[in-house]
Formats: sequence, C-alpha cells, structure tokens
Amino acid sequence: MERIDKLLASTGKWSRREVKELIRQGRVFADGRPVSRPEEKADPAAVRLEVDAEQVDCTPYVYVMLHKPAGLLSATEDRDQPTVLDLLPEQLRRRGLFPVGRLDKDTTGLLLLTDDGALAHRLLSPKKHVDKVYRARVEGRVDEEDVRALAAGMVLGDGLRCLPAGLEPLEDASVCLVTLREGKYHQVKRMLAARGKPVISLHRLSMGPLTLDIGLKPGKWRFLTQEERAELLELERTI
Ligand code: URA
Repeated sequence: MERIDKLLASTGKWSRREVKELIRQGRVFADGRPVSRPEEKADPAAVRLEVDAEQVDCTPYVYVMLHKPAGLLSATEDRDQPTVLDLLPEQLRRRGLFPVGRLDKDTTGLLLLTDDGALAHRLLSPKKHVDKVYRARVEGRVDEEDVRALAAGMVLGDGLRCLPAGLEPLEDASVCLVTLREGKYHQVKRMLAARGKPVISLHRLSMGPLTLDIGLKPGKWRFLTQEERAELLELERTI
C-alpha cells in the first residue's frame, strides 16, 4: 500500500504540495470515492485514481495486452521491418515497453508488453513453468502417438531437449492446442514438424493467467485490467 499523495506526485504532473491542495479541494477520487486526507493509502497496482474526473495512471509499470497480427516482428526496433511497437502510440513507446517473449513474425495472438523487467524475467524463466497455450493448424492430423510424444518431452534433431508439453487435438485433429512451459526458438513448429505434422498457422491464446481478449482484433491493444494485473503480480509472488 502506498500513500495516495505520493502516488499522484510520482506521475510528475503535480508536486506533493499541489496534490495536497487537490485533495483538500475534493478533486481526487480513489475507486469512485473522494479522498479526504493525503495520507490515505491504496494498492498502486489495483487502485483507480481520478483527478477532476480524469483517470490518472500511477502504476510504476505499464502492462499492455496486444493481439499480434501476422507480419510484424516481436522486437522493439528493427532497421528494415515493422515491429509490434509500431502498433502503440508514441507516449507508450517512449516509456520503453518491450514484448515479454517472442512470437514468430507469422505467429498471431497474445503478446504482453511491459516496462517491468523483473516480471518479464520471471514469466519467461523455464524454471517458473508458466504455461503458454497455442492453437496450431497442421498439415495432416495429430494423433495419440503425437500426444504421447509431446507429453514424454521430445528431443529434437539438433539435440534440443523439450520439457513435457500438452497436445490436445481439436475439430478433425488438423487443429490442436499445444501447451508449453518454456519458449525455445520456433518450439511449437519444430516439435510438430518433428512429428511429421508441419504447422500451417500458429496463434497464442494464453500465457499463465492471461487470456487473449476475444474483443481485441488483430493489431489492437489495451491496458491490462486491474484484475489481470493483480493476477500477474500474484503469479510473480508465487512462482
Ligand atoms: N513456437 C513457435 O514455433 N513459434 C512461436 O511464435 C511461438 C512458439
């Protein structure tokens, strides 16, 4: 919990003294209730603060959910090709957001962007076993043998050892859900290709507690909700 006057002053928009004055004038609201004393405290990751009925973002970090379209690199910059950062407004790019993990250029779906390096590090660590779920369309159909092979932990042609992974056939088994606890380069494509079922298209549905918002069209983004942020931070504490 943090003092509300400190949270508001940390945005750089007002000095501590100005914030005190705003509070005294009854212009500051926390979760819809007027703040009456500067020393009142709130959870910075969860509280919704408003000054003159305008929401003020006081979170020390920013968390963005993006529906990555095909054709963009999961990088912060590239000399020749567009990146997912090109989909964000200038003021967010200036904050130094970066994608948490990479999706291939032709992979679509859930991408989290943040400036919270510690969270990104923990989410990506294979030791932390944060599940990522992908929907893959393959040539041919996946079968029970493929399910067993992924569950056993595959060793790929170049000797790469994969942790046990989930495989669930959908529809006519030319589509499947793949659940990974790690994120090695081209991992889903390489595992399924090694089973003789090359991937035609790949889409990430979820990462830990975060599920791609079905209301977000490809190329669109939104800030995580307070609930999603709280779940991520909770995960960070427990893993
Ligand atoms: N596995 C892949 O092969 N590609 C991705 O983009 C993500 C996981």
